[in-house]
Amino acid sequence: MKILAIETSCDDTCVALIEVVGKKQAKLNILSNVVSSQNEIHQKYGGVYPTLAKREHQRNLPLVLKKALKKTSQSKIDASANSASTLSNNQRIDLIAVTVGPGLEPCLWVGINFAKELARDWNLPIIPVNHIEGHIFANWLMPISSNAKRKTQNAKKQKIEFPAMCLIVSGGHTQLILMKDFGKYKILGETRDDAAGECFDKTARILELGYPGGPAIAAKAAEFPIPLPDFACERSRRRAGNFQFPIKLPRPMIFQKNYDFSFSGLKTAVLYEIRKKGRKSKKFVQLMAAEIQQAIIDVLIHKTLKAAKDYQVKTIILGGGVAANQELRKQFLQRIKKEKLSLKFQVPDFKLCTDNAAMIGITGYFLWLKNKSKNLENIKADANLRM
Ligand code: KG4
Ligand code: ZN
Repeated sequence: MKILAIETSCDDTCVALIEVVGKKQAKLNILSNVVSSQNEIHQKYGGVYPTLAKREHQRNLPLVLKKALKKTSQSKIDASANSASTLSNNQRIDLIAVTVGPGLEPCLWVGINFAKELARDWNLPIIPVNHIEGHIFANWLMPISSNAKRKTQNAKKQKIEFPAMCLIVSGGHTQLILMKDFGKYKILGETRDDAAGECFDKTARILELGYPGGPAIAAKAAEFPIPLPDFACERSRRRAGNFQFPIKLPRPMIFQKNYDFSFSGLKTAVLYEIRKKGRKSKKFVQLMAAEIQQAIIDVLIHKTLKAAKDYQVKTIILGGGVAANQELRKQFLQRIKKEKLSLKFQVPDFKLCTDNAAMIGITGYFLWLKNKSKNLENIKADANLRM
């Protein structure tokens, strides 16, 4: 079966076509996965500007759909219609999946209305998808995984075992979710203010590094040669004591006995350091970027491992834009190895961490297996949709 997926919850206009072959041992192929980024437009605001994002989605969606279908080189489409395109007779799509929340409501509605129009035109069932669940399911799309015990394991053969602890870290969310099985979730903790990605974006703006802040901070941090200590680890902290760190940022809530996060204090601490230490030299920006990244990583890893141990999970799953951070991925593996934890560590392919529609397509497929399709009239945007 073929699933057309649409994702417009934030600032990326995304359309994907995925194919599921076979039943028992279903194989998933991504036929196309087109992401039209609005980064340049939002750059000057240092974050997403909802009205602009909505307008861009409206303009881009028909073009992105056309591109996604063309990429599969099997369709002739008439893209002259206003919002929706019409399929030729030989195009066989079985299902439409669309993100309905959480996200920016005006943006969500653009994708939903577009999906409804297509579903009506093509007489197809439609599945509403939760964006956060999509980030989790990105891990089933391209199984790139590692095991703390055996590094060189054949990733394709590794299966995600439940229960799993999912850390979803994006521009809008930071959540620790216990996944007992497909579709069985419990949110254990989340951020009380800014999300991890938002913290990267806001501090990058302060340092004038551009938007999105995550990759910008990561690139600057990589220019700083000295490995920073792991603040959650006593020994590492003591070792670091020999080295004079000119900047030390807090690790908010790291040792609190809950699974919640708080990142807004980091932004304030960065502003305070800049006020105290004066203007930003090249070295200062490098060190600050490294310290911001490390502070976020320390908190994320410490809290996730605590939750993983408390709930005795078999797998740790990462998802969301921040999961594309190379240091975060590397240090997670190092800590799992160092603590000799018998845990699988699963992260999506880099490109599948940030927003895309393929992850919505695969989630749609799993929901379709559970008969979760809905009448067009009942499909609505929910900016605060929960798992
Ligand atoms: O999941 P996503 O694409 O969109 C939302 O659902 O919000 O995540 C976007 C966030 C942005 O805040 C961006 O700065 C961050 O992910 N991000 C990164 C990296 N790539 C993207 N953060 C840290 N390191 C990265 N390499
Ligand atoms: Zn996202």
